[in-house]
Amino acid sequence: MENFNFHVTTDIRFGKDRLDELPTVLNEFGKRVLIVYGGGSIKKNGLYDKVANELKENGNTVFELAGVEPNPRVTTVEKGAEICRQEKVDVILAIGGGSVIDAAKVIAAAAFYQGSAWDLVLERKGFAGPALPLVTILTLAATGSEMNTNAVITNWKTKEKLGTAGPSMLPKASFLDPQNTFTVNQYQTAAGSADIMSHLIENYFNKTEGTDVQDFVAEGIMRAVIKNCPIALKYPDDYDARANLMWASSLALNGLTGNGKQGSWSCHAIEHELSAFYDITHGIGLAIITPRWMEYVLNEQTAGKLAQFARNVFGVEESVDRMAARMGIQKLYDYFKACKIPMTLPEVGIDDEKFSLMAKQAVAHSSIDKNGYVPLDEAAVEEILRQSLVERNFE
Ligand code: NZQ
Ligand code: ZN
Repeated sequence: MENFNFHVTTDIRFGKDRLDELPTVLNEFGKRVLIVYGGGSIKKNGLYDKVANELKENGNTVFELAGVEPNPRVTTVEKGAEICRQEKVDVILAIGGGSVIDAAKVIAAAAFYQGSAWDLVLERKGFAGPALPLVTILTLAATGSEMNTNAVITNWKTKEKLGTAGPSMLPKASFLDPQNTFTVNQYQTAAGSADIMSHLIENYFNKTEGTDVQDFVAEGIMRAVIKNCPIALKYPDDYDARANLMWASSLALNGLTGNGKQGSWSCHAIEHELSAFYDITHGIGLAIITPRWMEYVLNEQTAGKLAQFARNVFGVEESVDRMAARMGIQKLYDYFKACKIPMTLPEVGIDDEKFSLMAKQAVAHSSIDKNGYVPLDEAAVEEILRQSLVERNFE
């Protein structure tokens, strides 16, 4: 296991009907609040009104940035930063999924920066500047953004989707009320769950040895997602199913299963290019790529860990590692399919036209060619994309 720090100070307010605590949380930072939200789901389900009432009674001065896109654009971030500077905003309140929270993080940082917000994204993992305090109300279980320092922003002009991260972007507090996810539709529920699975899988398949705690915790969270996602798909207002998915979202990407390891995430590097060029839903792209990637990296050295995944996550009983590994990949594929996720690229409108360009960018924007679980060069990425064009059987 590698050395690591674990200092995740987000004040998590998990559970039902806790919005009456919002004013006290916000008052710690000031009265001038910028609320940031997406395309209107919070207006339809009544959450917007509830928050507006709390802020009104608390005497807040409220500014708004609405319309943050899924795969949030840097142009939207610039608009939010401008409001913060003009109106001397004290605290940002993000209400939404990962896209809204990510946009709010970079708005918070860009508020202190006179140049283009894209410069801050280009600092990637090394953003060290200040940011306005951020409080979040999560409405979709997926990214873990509610409890981590990452933000992923898209520059539509340059066709780049890049992650940045810095300690000042960590949310000060996050309200996690599973009831706020009852209205998430089947497609986004399945996509969000696939994203959670992917975060766990990306951390799990790592070259660092001796990480049993991280790996066994990850196996448990994966089992919880596999159990609860189908329940949430069938019964959207099943509180416990939504609660388990929501807490899994936060724990899958807050360092719990990833710290103490080193190496580059492969499926995310590839998926971010699919989103950058085709604006697809992040979790869907991951569900399509992940089983093909697993098959691609299956070799003598990796068979043992892939077999461990098959046995401990999916209960595969096969004793020969390579065979168990293939059965596990198939089970993951079948699970995504049972969640009604389209499992080929053409189903989400992607053909092979830009494969070589996307492969080039995936390698250029990451270190998968050096630090991947199995290093992937451009040809390897293209091969994984090609395998994603058609339905597959991995056994
Ligand atoms: O915009 P609204 O109207 O709110 O609708 C959204 C959006 O259309 C809808 N939605 C959210 N909550 C809802 C709801 N609909 C009904 N009821 C609710 N309660 O769902 C759609 C998708 O929302 P989005 O925020 O885009 O989804 P998600 O949370 O999956 O975030 C995806 C973004 O996060 C990035 C992804 O790349 C992508 O840009 N990621 C961020 C990470 C991080 N910060 O750590 C890590 C991830 O790996 C990921 O890259
Ligand atoms: Zn993700």
